Amino acid sequence: MAKREILVLPDARLRAIAEPIEKVDAEVKKLAKDMLDTMYDAPGIGLAGPQIGEMKRIVVMDLAKEGEKPDPIVMINPEILKYSEETITSEEGCLSIPEIYYDVERPAEVTVKYTDLDGNEVEREAKDRLAICIQHELDHLDGVLYIDYLSRLKRDRVLKKFQKAEKLAKKAS
Ligand code: NI
Repeated sequence: MAKREILVLPDARLRAIAEPIEKVDAEVKKLAKDMLDTMYDAPGIGLAGPQIGEMKRIVVMDLAKEGEKPDPIVMINPEILKYSEETITSEEGCLSIPEIYYDVERPAEVTVKYTDLDGNEVEREAKDRLAICIQHELDHLDGVLYIDYLSRLKRDRVLKKFQKAEKLAKKAS
């Protein structure tokens, strides 16, 4: 198992746009495996390439609940084709913004298109937790974080907290 370091706010790579993956080769398969290992170890339910400094359009997820069989999902070059008008509000967190959780409102259902690890084109409809997770992870590929949907006051509070932590860490090293 290869666990990779998860980048934390305010790392600039979290704000960059990831590049499409041209071919699902052994390197991409290894990356997906590393991402799943890293996500399970964290533990988390989703992880995007840029969160480990890999600026590629790949996300991994697993929404199986405790005690259920693992259900890993790998999406390469994912794209949301359709959003529902209906929205839901749910609490979100992010491995790159540890120990912070806020309610976010998003479309309740999406249709997503992606390439899977076998190189097949897949179209999938998702709702509820999976739909939210897909939207959250895909945002990472465009440098968008869930805190961007909060009020400016709340977002600034989170940013300041992590900027301060980074300064302290630099001083200590
Ligand atoms: Ni996240």
